[in-house]
Amino acid sequence: MTAVPGEVRVVLLPGDGIGPEVIREAVKVLQAVAVRFHLSLGFTELPIGGAATDATGTPLPDVTLQSCLRADAVLLGAVGGPRWDRLPGPARPEAGLLQLRRALGVFANLRPVRLSASLGAVSPLRPEVAAGTDLLIVRELLGGLYFGQPRGRTQDSAVDTMRYSTEEIGRVARVAFTMARGRRRKVTSVDKANVLETSRLWRQTVESVRREFPDVTLEHLLVDTCALQLIRAPGMFDVIVTENTFGDILSDEAGAVVGSLGLLPSASLGDHPPFFYEPVHGSAPDIAGKGIANPIGAILSVAMMLRHSLSREDASAAVETAVERVLEAGIRTPDLGGGATTAQVGDHIVEEVGGAPAATGRPAARAALQKGQTPKKRAAFQRGQTPKKGV
Ligand code: NAD
Ligand code: IPM
Ligand code: MN
Repeated sequence: MTAVPGEVRVVLLPGDGIGPEVIREAVKVLQAVAVRFHLSLGFTELPIGGAATDATGTPLPDVTLQSCLRADAVLLGAVGGPRWDRLPGPARPEAGLLQLRRALGVFANLRPVRLSASLGAVSPLRPEVAAGTDLLIVRELLGGLYFGQPRGRTQDSAVDTMRYSTEEIGRVARVAFTMARGRRRKVTSVDKANVLETSRLWRQTVESVRREFPDVTLEHLLVDTCALQLIRAPGMFDVIVTENTFGDILSDEAGAVVGSLGLLPSASLGDHPPFFYEPVHGSAPDIAGKGIANPIGAILSVAMMLRHSLSREDASAAVETAVERVLEAGIRTPDLGGGATTAQVGDHIVEEVGGAPAATGRPAARAALQKGQTPKKRAAFQRGQTPKKGV
């Protein structure tokens, strides 16, 4: 990747399934933000996952790995799908993703989960239960069952190893406490300390790190109870810190609480850049190729990139505000009960960001809603459909 002075080098890894569909929209938004905030961005797109296996025989080709290591930030769509499910472990698309996370050293995976003001009715929880959901899952990303040795299988048995060191626990706990300082100053550490040795070490280490953060409240919760409380009273959480597998599972559950997994972004941070950004969802084979995937998880991942890799809080907030406005205007993909396509949602967010003209030239969400259209036209607009002539 040729370095242009002053340019922020972003590697794009669209991947499989809906990955390329949502990354296309995220890049449109990033380009619009770049125009509005005078950022100089350079993009390099490279293969990963099943697409890379098909093209090169490996899910993480060396050119992809090396370019990511030299980049300022990396944005991934999703990897995996039924087509590659029968490959042996190390050849699977997911193995390429795990190898990349490890090579980048991104041990702290931030997964913010906030209920949008306009999506109260979309949550499967009663509005009064879902109200006030605004939490951050800090998921340990490089340890536990995902990487522990030994692992393997014979014909009739298999082993995975859950292993953690105090160093691995301490560094992610510090991230969680630091994040809590910028929020409501409460950390819930989630483990299974009633059963697992790794969890008892986890709890003890988090307790000792907490001494560095006397201004932050700490509570411990068993993971099964946490899964329960997440749907019973999600508003009780501020920052949740937990190990790799628990964080994976709880974050999908949290996606349901706020209306759709497709809304959730993530940022994976390490001791030094480049940092890694990806929506929480997967390649969604059930809807891939239909143009209806929700691009908001990927677009909000771009907002996280602007905040954590470019230190541009202004640009990051502009993206988040644009997303809120478009949701408020009722422009939503089918997972949120709407009829908009992936590209329509992306175009409207681009327009709200205000840096570049939308590709399909449809009116901005607010402008159209203010025009006082007929109820039928307005309903069609809110579903994200272009009203037919004469409707
Ligand atoms: P998934 O997250 O792909 O899909 C779960 C459900 O959520 C599906 O019904 C899907 O349609 C829906 N969904 C997900 N993202 C959506 C979006 N943006 N808009 C609308 N609906 C959305 O999980 P899965 O089906 O269990 O996994 C499919 C593949 O993705 C597997 O191969 C898995 O390993 C992989 N995966 C990859 C990542 C990643 O690359 N980071 C994450 C999770 C799963
Ligand atoms: C996620 C995904 C990945 C994980 C898979 C695809 C390896 O589920 O990012 O949540 O388990 O970390
Ligand atoms: Mn997951």
